[in-house]
Amino acid sequence: MNILDAAYWETRWQGQQTGWDIGEASPPLTHYLENVSDRTTRILIPGAGRAYEALYLHQQGYEQVFVCDWAPSAFNHLRQQAPDFPEEHLLVGDFFELKPPTPFDLLLEQTFFCAIDPKLRPQYVAKAADLLTDQGTLAGVLFAREFPFEGPPFGGTKAVYQPLFATHFDILTMQITPHSIPPRLGNELFIELKKK
Ligand SMILES: C[S@@+](CC[C@H](N)C(=O)[O-])C[C@H]1O[C@@H](n2cnc3c(N)ncnc32)[C@H](O)[C@@H]1O
Repeated sequence: MNILDAAYWETRWQGQQTGWDIGEASPPLTHYLENVSDRTTRILIPGAGRAYEALYLHQQGYEQVFVCDWAPSAFNHLRQQAPDFPEEHLLVGDFFELKPPTPFDLLLEQTFFCAIDPKLRPQYVAKAADLLTDQGTLAGVLFAREFPFEGPPFGGTKAVYQPLFATHFDILTMQITPHSIPPRLGNELFIELKKK
């Protein structure tokens, strides 16, 4: 397997090998965000890439939106599209090493979990919980399928995800979403998890 370090991802960005990029804010996430009315909610999008969801939130007036990605080129698009997006909210670095001064109310998952080595999944769950306030929420989508090639992306199933996330979260929702883009329809679980 490739070593999935920052250099690997930076090379993919520079080579425009970004097949994961859907070119818009993920519809299951925007559908969910319609019910997050508080514009001061502190939101983190890890492994955000072009960060279409951050742009969407910014345009909707959310003030405390942070994105994390360790590939320096990833945020070029967001910088171009939203020059007034606060530079200090662009966290260029390793998600697993993040040490924000204030925890987040909401973490949004969109093809970051599937991009990391599956061995790191327990650490992802623990770090996500660590970054959240008490009763904070992890919401987004996970692939509900395996892939017939070596990842990334790495897939999975609800049966695998449930015990993994239950170590740190109460599972409010984990079900196939009807809001996926057509190529992913039926293959994405929407999750809404509340920190224990
Ligand atoms: C598959 S891309 C997804 C990008 C975006 N979420 C999307 O859906 O278009 C995964 C992103 O996660 C970033 N990434 C992977 N591991 C990371 C880590 N440990 N810390 C921060 N970013 C990471 C990569 O640089 C890459 O931009």
